[in-house]
Amino acid sequence: MPTSEVKIEHVYDIHVFCCINVRAKDHPRSSCAARGSIDLQKHMKDRAKELKIKNIRINKAGCLERCELGPVLVIYPEATWYRYDTTDDIDDILNQHIIGGQCVERLILKNDQKVPEPTTESRIKLRVRGIKKLTRDVKKIEFVPETKGLLPTFTAGSHINIITPNGHRRSYSLANSPKQRQYYEIAVLRESDGRGGSAWMHDSLALGDSVEASLPTNNFPLDKSAEHHLLIAGGIGIVPLLSMGRALYEKAASATLHYCARGPEFTPYAKEVKEVFADHVHFHHDGGNPKNGIDLQKILATPTENTCIYVCGPSGLITAVQNAASHWPEGMVRFEKFVSDRQEPVHRNSDTAFDIVLSRQRKTLSVPPGKSILDVVSDAGLYISSSCKEGICGSCKVRLLGGQAEHRDNFLRNDEHQKSIMICSSRAKRGETLILDI
Ligand code: FES
Ligand code: FES
Repeated sequence: MPTSEVKIEHVYDIHVFCCINVRAKDHPRSSCAARGSIDLQKHMKDRAKELKIKNIRINKAGCLERCELGPVLVIYPEATWYRYDTTDDIDDILNQHIIGGQCVERLILKNDQKVPEPTTESRIKLRVRGIKKLTRDVKKIEFVPETKGLLPTFTAGSHINIITPNGHRRSYSLANSPKQRQYYEIAVLRESDGRGGSAWMHDSLALGDSVEASLPTNNFPLDKSAEHHLLIAGGIGIVPLLSMGRALYEKAASATLHYCARGPEFTPYAKEVKEVFADHVHFHHDGGNPKNGIDLQKILATPTENTCIYVCGPSGLITAVQNAASHWPEGMVRFEKFVSDRQEPVHRNSDTAFDIVLSRQRKTLSVPPGKSILDVVSDAGLYISSSCKEGICGSCKVRLLGGQAEHRDNFLRNDEHQKSIMICSSRAKRGETLILDI
């Protein structure tokens, strides 16, 4: 029994432990390191220093035995557990929890939680507050929340999936600045050979109508470390780039836009683009012949350090930019595609069954020929976001933790093939088992 009271003084006010445990690549539980915790812990330390947070210690830790939820960190003295995936998550934890004293609800882990939530899609209800024709074939549509308040946060380059009356999901990029959360703005091109989603948006959707949508997701984010941003848009591909331009303008970041369309009357958002990019926008009107469009060889001739290229538009434009920038440092071209240029079907006669291990769920499932990984995972009652189901939109991207995949998508870059897989279209190489971050 202590004979006198000892006053315990904390050496640090805040102590953070980030698991950076590494396991073998074929381990079914995988590890926080395989999900990116080593870089994220470093980012947290660097950001805390930049933010001049005093009396904090951000330590590397071994396995914290919550591997299925990882990467995980715990903050003492209050013992708050978080899972995190991105540098944005870490920034929110630092700004909101550590500096602001408010929990980051979307990342918090309950004490008894065993698997990540949600396993069903979170949807929001939106109401149409404005429709405006931008060109002959393009309509701008603004949505506000059904109930009062702000809409969920998003970052420039994000999209939402609108659920059509027949239950289909259609992806639309957001055009507004992430600071404007009173509404979401999208633009819809009427596609004569589309799957009906654009015709419904053009012909049936009316002011005051309600729709269901997914929460915003971003497969096409800005590179925060870039010093200059070179944006290249083809037609309706301007939409996410306009949102990026607006976000960059608010930060006074350096950006240039090349915007190609058939002619002035086919150029949605021309006025807004001029307002945002001022002298840094170049319009190219090609009359429908790409040869008369942007001189990519010229504008991409010299790789510029710390410049990130973003391209959105038809697949021909994306391929042309990738080819013209092939001598640029790897990973400096980011793109978002709208239309498939698939040569072969997703399912092939030669396909065989293979196993997948869902590392977070501690489950092994078999994927038979004729079914995709996405089908099998959905049949098991788990929700993974998806839209095109052809490997082009990026919605169903999942981290690949082990095994060799046969990539059949048009979305991932070659340097992403070891770490990610599009589960709507890609499979395992013969004899391989895939360990997925699900
Ligand atoms: S590997 Fe991070 S909690 Fe186990
Ligand atoms: S659902 Fe679009 S890439 Fe898989």
